[in-house]
Amino acid sequence: MWQQKWIMGNWKMNGSLASNQQLLLALQKPVSAASAQVYCAVAVPDVYLTSAKEQVRGFPLVIGAQDVSRFGDFGAYTGEINAQMLADVGAGFALIGHSERRQYFQEDNAILLSKLQHCLSAHILPILCVGETLAQRESAQEKAVVGDQLAILAELSATEVVVAYEPVWAIGTGKIPTTRQIAEMHQFIYHQILSLCGKDVKIRVLYGGSVNTKNAAEILAVPHVDGALVGGASLQADSFTAIIQAACAPAL
Ligand code: PGA
Repeated sequence: MWQQKWIMGNWKMNGSLASNQQLLLALQKPVSAASAQVYCAVAVPDVYLTSAKEQVRGFPLVIGAQDVSRFGDFGAYTGEINAQMLADVGAGFALIGHSERRQYFQEDNAILLSKLQHCLSAHILPILCVGETLAQRESAQEKAVVGDQLAILAELSATEVVVAYEPVWAIGTGKIPTTRQIAEMHQFIYHQILSLCGKDVKIRVLYGGSVNTKNAAEILAVPHVDGALVGGASLQADSFTAIIQAACAPAL
């Protein structure tokens, strides 16, 4: 799993029982065919975790969550879903700190650190999402911002760290950084994780933000890009399949 490219879909607040079933059925063959080279996963809305798990039985598509509660215990937290519950229904991972969570739900480092800790205690792989806004990039703050978002990793005793670098200005916009900008940021993230978590930590850094069928191969060939987190293009079987296939042969 650590040697493979990772292609992860993020469905966000999309789907229905019927459309999910269709999409997952259509992914069965391509995901199975790519499984030696590509680790494939999708982050689904929590209400569909159980049905999605059922529908991927027999093929290696990992099902995970898009978020988790900042509270780790059980009790009077109306509307919340804790990491133990995600583990109970078989979620393999959870996205933490996606920019939409940071933007619409004011999730800061203190909240995200508790989410990371609860995931690790419940044996759910957390995927920490980081990235700068356009204004921050235009004022050359991108490394300072991402460095600050990564700093919470020092508080964990994780042996494996997965980060998704998603520039906010690239999410859902069709704009992507140059391959040079991606390479520089991914190298920086590797360097930061090693200094925060120690040299023995296993690292995966995924790129996310407007990954599509046309740009996937080029992005996946960038040094230190270990995979992709795909939003819009993961909602159609054809486009998600083409991205999985691009990950099978990342060198152009
Ligand atoms: P996008 O979303 O691929 O639609 O830009 C990526 C994400 O938000 O994870």
